Amino acid sequence: MLNQDLGRGRGVYISTYGCQMNSNDTERMMALLEMVNFIPVESPEKASLIIINSCSVREKPVHKVHSEVGIYRELKAKNPDLRIGVGGCVAQQEKQKLLKDIPLLDFVFGTDAIDQLPELVAKCYDTGERQVAARFENEKPYSIETMVRNPGVTAFVNIMKGCDNFCTFCVVPFTRGRERSRNLKELLTDIKSLVARGVKEVTLLGQNVNSYESECGADFGQLLKALAEDTDIARIRYTTSHPKDFNQELVDISQKYRSKICDYIHLPAQSGNTEVLKRMNRGYSREEYLDKVKMIRDGIPGVVLSTDLIVGFPGETEAQFEDTYSLIEQVRYDNIYAFKYSPRPFTKAARFDDQIPEDEKSRRLDLLLKTQREISFELAKPYDGQVYDTLFEAKSDVEGQIQGRTTHNKLVYCYAPESLIGQTVPVKVLKAFPSVLRCELVTGSAASTVHNGTLNL
Ligand code: SAH
Ligand code: SF4
Ligand code: F3S
Repeated sequence: MLNQDLGRGRGVYISTYGCQMNSNDTERMMALLEMVNFIPVESPEKASLIIINSCSVREKPVHKVHSEVGIYRELKAKNPDLRIGVGGCVAQQEKQKLLKDIPLLDFVFGTDAIDQLPELVAKCYDTGERQVAARFENEKPYSIETMVRNPGVTAFVNIMKGCDNFCTFCVVPFTRGRERSRNLKELLTDIKSLVARGVKEVTLLGQNVNSYESECGADFGQLLKALAEDTDIARIRYTTSHPKDFNQELVDISQKYRSKICDYIHLPAQSGNTEVLKRMNRGYSREEYLDKVKMIRDGIPGVVLSTDLIVGFPGETEAQFEDTYSLIEQVRYDNIYAFKYSPRPFTKAARFDDQIPEDEKSRRLDLLLKTQREISFELAKPYDGQVYDTLFEAKSDVEGQIQGRTTHNKLVYCYAPESLIGQTVPVKVLKAFPSVLRCELVTGSAASTVHNGTLNL
């Protein structure tokens, strides 16, 4: 039996890197540790337990873990009670090697070992020995309850874990294991209980939500439909979609339940060149990707799209890069997340022998980002003066101002009473920037001209 007073009021500090899945994991770690009387603190100096929730997706992640642990050397010298652990994707990737390489570390736990965290910490304190838990739980069905300590207006909900796609550049299948989906019924119960606790918007998380498959056979579209019909959740978002699995059924469901399913789709392309896409093992050509974009835009007019792109993938020629460049000019995404290719352990592409020099990758990245900036500003203009429903989520950093988002994931700032937090309210755009809309509240007749997402361009 685990000692319920394991923490004895000790402070716990977690630094989090990586994607929303990692942020969600941090919340779960905190919830589990609070249950055994650890108290979350906002600085490592106040903590007796420090955890680094690491990400391994790009650029020197192991190195980052080393240097962060190094920063805590003095704290450890001053406080013999301090324990330092590493979780997340670097932990999963390196396992006990991390303990060997970083003498200051007390424990390492992988992405499937989060629920073992209190036990692991207990062993650390009780035995004084260093601990590792980094086995994948591939056999068990993926069944968890979402843990949120103080739910706000929005919450993340894992609908699946792992990834089976093995894109040749990507470490995630090795750090998150095989793909497993949660049961549809379990998800409905989970989300209903979040709604009962005041949550208005959920973001469904998975590395490839489109390949969601419940034990009962329900696919992702059916999950969205069930959430829209059978729960009182006001808004549903999801990430990440894989273009190869995005289908017409999902478009139709998104359009049908548009009042709940948000008009924003993140559709990572990675490259605009068919040959590169093939070498990336993405499962679609440029043309097929563009067909999916057309299918989505035809079915959900006014939907906002964003994407992920990689430049300098091994062997990418100047002409192939230009295809990516032309893709952003053709699709005109509201926003892109572009990265320089970074070789990752275990991945096929890291072993390709035609790696691109770093300065060339930087040049391509700069070009892409510069062009996108222009596109983003042009696309922002038509938002000026329009009225949109906004779900207010929280106070902003500015006194008197609150913040929320439109259905297309634009961040709204507005001087308005805090009592509107949690409500969906029409606002008028005073000044539009690519990801931010400065707005004012709309009252009276103007409120009836609200655009629930559809931009009349
Ligand atoms: N499951 C998601 C992405 C997860 S990783 C999907 O399939 O889209 C998030 C993003 O990081 C990827 O979309 C990709 O653009 C980028 N990325 C992943 N591995 C990378 C690498 N080795 N080098 C550079 N960027 C990478
Ligand atoms: Fe990585 Fe590809 Fe899986 Fe996304 S779909 S997590 S890019 S392997
Ligand atoms: Fe990073 Fe792991 Fe997420 S590698 S992007 S934290 S799945």
